[in-house]
Amino acid sequence: MAWLCLALAGGALLALLVQLLRWRRADGDLTLLWAEKWGKKPEHELRGKVVWVTGASSGIGEELSYQLAKLGALLAISARREDELQRVKKKCLQISSLSENDILVLRLDLTDRSSHEAATNSVLKHFGKIDVLVNNGGRSQRSLFVDTNLDVYNAIIELNYLGTISLTKHVLNHMIQRKKGKIVTVSSVMGIMGAPLATGYCASKHALQGFFNSLRTELTDYPEISVIQICPGPVQSQIIQNVFTENLAKSSKINVLCCSFGGEARIFWTQLCLGSAVLAAQSIENSGDQSHKMPTDRCARLTLVSVANDVQEAWISDHPYLAVCYLWQYAPTWAWWLMNRMGKRRIQNFKSGIDADASYSRKKK
Ligand SMILES: NC(=O)c1ccc[n+]([C@@H]2O[C@H](COP(=O)([O-])OP(=O)(O)OC[C@H]3O[C@@H](n4cnc5c(N)ncnc54)[C@H](OP(=O)(O)O)[C@@H]3O)[C@@H](O)[C@H]2O)c1
Repeated sequence: MAWLCLALAGGALLALLVQLLRWRRADGDLTLLWAEKWGKKPEHELRGKVVWVTGASSGIGEELSYQLAKLGALLAISARREDELQRVKKKCLQISSLSENDILVLRLDLTDRSSHEAATNSVLKHFGKIDVLVNNGGRSQRSLFVDTNLDVYNAIIELNYLGTISLTKHVLNHMIQRKKGKIVTVSSVMGIMGAPLATGYCASKHALQGFFNSLRTELTDYPEISVIQICPGPVQSQIIQNVFTENLAKSSKINVLCCSFGGEARIFWTQLCLGSAVLAAQSIENSGDQSHKMPTDRCARLTLVSVANDVQEAWISDHPYLAVCYLWQYAPTWAWWLMNRMGKRRIQNFKSGIDADASYSRKKK
């Protein structure tokens, strides 16, 4: 009997050790990585499915479009910049066996909620159904609460939260009629934790988390409709160029300038237009070097694994953000203590004009 207990304890210890080793090397939560290794493959699950991706004109949405095209999904791609969407469509056609009609470019402003019903009908008219909606469009924030106008908070909530749930409402009506579909929302690790310089952004992503966790519980009569939340940590994209800052005029000015100029020129013009080097350093970070962030293709791949396997909440991130997610979930008191320390460094980085998260990553230069 004693040897059996010993063997069981040894087995449990070994299993724990294996999990710890897996976790140390992980770039996603362990359920997700398990699904990646042993679960359903996106290539089988998503081929021939109609997938509508918002925020497809750059970053994560753009990469998702390429990977979906390669694996044979039919695509509706949306954002405000139609020329960028046409560029994405062209590349999708080059790298896949899809034909012209298999990709619908649909200009969409998430903040123009009155247009969402017509947009949904356009996708339905073109493809006859929507299998998967990927709510990806959104913008982040870099500004301290004390410096930030309330208008900015309004705009973040309008875009990231209300825009997303408005589109979801129209698409969900269709999915409920069909009794099947997947609503995928790109939230963030900021939807799980709190961090300085992103009070409004965190609030909008927490709102999405709360909304979709609740919506899922309202859909139990529709077991074939899944609600999936994707929570990435820092990922290579245009997100820093597009952030909201202290006031809306400044945020959109930076946005326009960043679209027009690259690298050093971008920073120079931002400084020139805002008339203050200090302001510029505080309002825009050097986003040229993104090597400390997760590559976009890895984030998109893990997102598609989550969709294929109906992983309800997927954390896609390198350490230390992944570790902080676990702490935030299972030991919040430690997480608060740690975040106060990490947060201080984040604010210092931001004030000196480098990426707020640059100094935490194992991959930094
Ligand atoms: N990159 C990260 O580190 C990271 C981490 C966690 C979560 N996320 C989330 O991932 C999503 C995609 O961000 P990203 O990193 O790929 O950033 P990105 O490169 O800036 O892409 C953002 C996308 O959202 C679209 N968008 C912005 N405002 C819009 C509006 N009013 N209506 C419709 N579309 C709009 C943009 O297109 P247009 O400008 O053409 O409209 C663009 O296609 C966001 O929800 C973001 O919060 C990103």
